Amino acid sequence: MSKEIIQLFPAPATPIELQGLYLSIPLVPSDWPDRPFVYSNFVASIDGRIAMSSAPPGRSRVPDTIANPRDWRLFQELAARADILLCSGNYLRELEAGTAQAELPLYNQPAHADLLGWRRAQGLPPQPDVAVFSNSLNIEIPPRWFDDGRRVFVLTTADPASPAAMRLRQTDATIQYFPGATVGGAAAIEFLASRGYRRIYSIGGPYVFHTLAAAGVLDTLFLTTVHRLVGDSAAPGILEGAALSIPLDFQLRSLYYDAHSHGGIGQTFARYDRIQR
Ligand SMILES: NC(=O)c1ccc[n+]([C@@H]2O[C@H](COP(=O)([O-])OP(=O)(O)OC[C@H]3O[C@@H](n4cnc5c(N)ncnc54)[C@H](OP(=O)(O)O)[C@@H]3O)[C@@H](O)[C@H]2O)c1
Repeated sequence: MSKEIIQLFPAPATPIELQGLYLSIPLVPSDWPDRPFVYSNFVASIDGRIAMSSAPPGRSRVPDTIANPRDWRLFQELAARADILLCSGNYLRELEAGTAQAELPLYNQPAHADLLGWRRAQGLPPQPDVAVFSNSLNIEIPPRWFDDGRRVFVLTTADPASPAAMRLRQTDATIQYFPGATVGGAAAIEFLASRGYRRIYSIGGPYVFHTLAAAGVLDTLFLTTVHRLVGDSAAPGILEGAALSIPLDFQLRSLYYDAHSHGGIGQTFARYDRIQR
């Protein structure tokens, strides 16, 4: 990770180390009100794909044509800043199938082991907790998550008396029920705030992201754009679902150019902060 990136914005253009970049930035603005700060991160191609279609039909996964270790380092650094991660039920199914991009626990590769020490130095537990959005409850929670000392929440609208809900209640996870057809973003964040969470990092895909965006509770997006076209109109982008009733506006907070991904193709790392109205 020794090759430098270039900070393009704010100007002037300045070479900077990639490793440690998202550990050192002020994540939450200093004048932040007493509510959680919700952020998310995606890596996408220039044509906006965050994954490519894969078997069986209707499924997708993040291929190495998009994913890369330099972006992955920054993903891990953002996770190191978090009290809790938000993910999808589908992510747990991908984990079980061995096709997930990210594995939890975090920092289990030597290249990221320093982040454990970093969390310790901040007085944080080794691993952030996890909240899973799932209506189907067709999920298995990896026992390892509890072994790592995490608290795990499942946020769902499923019937509490359903066999799936009763099965999950046998685990150490907290099953939290919400009314409606899907879990609302505002209610979910309010619930997590009531449990004391302040830095909430969504690692979910386009529907979890839509849940947060549609409710207006998303604060910041970190977006890596790999300088590559991949096609595949069936593949997801960062936001899937109905048109937002109120578009969300963002201001560019930072932009870095990395010339070293994928053997020199390059990528940009952008941070967008939602304009709070
Ligand atoms: N490139 C990247 O940075 C990046 C990042 C994340 C994901 N991805 C990829 O994108 C693709 C899609 O990801 P994904 O399926 O994990 O993400 P997703 O589209 O956000 O998640 C869909 C699943 O999450 C649950 N869900 C989402 N919103 C919900 C709500 N409001 N209430 C209740 N449940 C809700 C549902 O689970 P149930 O079906 O269990 O009800 C749903 O099936 C995958 O290929 C993934 O690998 C790429």
